[in-house]
Amino acid sequence: MASNKRGMHGIWGSRWTFILAATGSAVGLGNIWKFPYITGENGGGAFVLMYLVCILVAGVPVMIAEVLLGRRGRMSPIHTMQAEAKEQQAPAVFSGIGWMGAVSGFFILSFYSVIAGWTLAYIGKMASGEFSGADADTAAASFSGLLADPWTLLGLHTLFMIMTGGVIARGVKHGLEDGVRLLMPLLFVMLIMLLGYAITTPGFVQGWNFLFSFDASKLNADSIVVALGHSFFTLSLGMGAIMTYGAYMPAEASLTRTIFTVAFLDTLVALVAGLIIFPIVFSNGLEPAAGPGLMFQTLPIAFGALPGGTLIGTAFFVLVAIAAWSSAISIAEPAVAWAVEKGVSRGRATFIVCLLAWLIGVGTVLSFNEWSEVTFLKGTFFDNLDFLTSNLMMPLGGMAIAIFVGWYMRREDAEGELNVADHRVFTVWRFMLRYLSPLAILLIFVKGLS
Ligand code: TRP
Repeated sequence: MASNKRGMHGIWGSRWTFILAATGSAVGLGNIWKFPYITGENGGGAFVLMYLVCILVAGVPVMIAEVLLGRRGRMSPIHTMQAEAKEQQAPAVFSGIGWMGAVSGFFILSFYSVIAGWTLAYIGKMASGEFSGADADTAAASFSGLLADPWTLLGLHTLFMIMTGGVIARGVKHGLEDGVRLLMPLLFVMLIMLLGYAITTPGFVQGWNFLFSFDASKLNADSIVVALGHSFFTLSLGMGAIMTYGAYMPAEASLTRTIFTVAFLDTLVALVAGLIIFPIVFSNGLEPAAGPGLMFQTLPIAFGALPGGTLIGTAFFVLVAIAAWSSAISIAEPAVAWAVEKGVSRGRATFIVCLLAWLIGVGTVLSFNEWSEVTFLKGTFFDNLDFLTSNLMMPLGGMAIAIFVGWYMRREDAEGELNVADHRVFTVWRFMLRYLSPLAILLIFVKGLS
């Protein structure tokens, strides 16, 4: 039987609420902004294939493990991992998984909010009709103009952080549920519409081939690390966000089916975003390896060319901002939940968490202008933060979770919590968690960092 413990933070209304919230967490800038641009930087098809393999071999099994831990513990990741490590008599390092997650959460939230700020700017740019009939040069100039202006970026970053804090302070359940229920389907519809446009562009076949034709010679160790890191980033894994949402999950809901649904929706959105952006890239003679600005320089061209594009474009960026919003909330929630368990009021905890992340975010704001020449290790301040969290801390957290649930958690505890009717599903999953997932992560680390 799944454990019947109840936490202090409340329980989602139903399995579907969890699916919506987890999908709200998973689908965000990672899918629409980051996936296309890192695919572009890493040469296309071979990278996409690696990413899909990583989702299946590491992402899904670890996601199940993470939600399982959350639902057993019914607390913030820090407290859940402390309690679970003790209960399962695992080495003390495992009780630190929650702490590492909290630290990476601050880092991720700090840059996530800055990029989400760009989408807020684009709502305004779209609505003003700036892009009607715009060509690639106009779109590029508009984007670089935005990045060159630290005060505007700082204002947008601040606004987004206040939006995020506003929902969290009210409690995740009430703030989030209604929002995602309405808006996620709308985002889907909008993506399909844009896909319809992309299909009519002359670059569609080239875009399709770029995404789906496998060229092994383009694979290098670095791009494999990026693929692994992104599979964790996009599923919100390895730092406790999904564990926290699992802590609010009803005891009777099936974990495996639920998680497959979330992972499928998340992957679908990423692939569709790629199928929209790359045809536009090729049709307009743009560079697929343009980097973080890729989405902001391609989509305005599409909207500028579409009848009614001003309206549709505005609505689209509203939806992307909302997708980012529902993700940002899940990044901040673990730290806030921990502070609440420590007796701090929810409002005050939210304020402190958001303020800290906001401060670190200033470094990312400056990475695109004043500090753009200040590079070390992997590049700018932002590049390093992104690399550290996505490519090191999250996979490391994921590996620790896999090893803990696979090797240290008693078999009957894991099976009881997973609660699958079909015993074979459990056996396959546990095998992957014990061997395949940690080994894959380890191999990628060793290869990527040597
Ligand atoms: N998955 C989200 C996206 O793809 C981002 C995100 C939400 C996240 N919660 C997270 C990333 C926790 C890392 C950890 O946009």
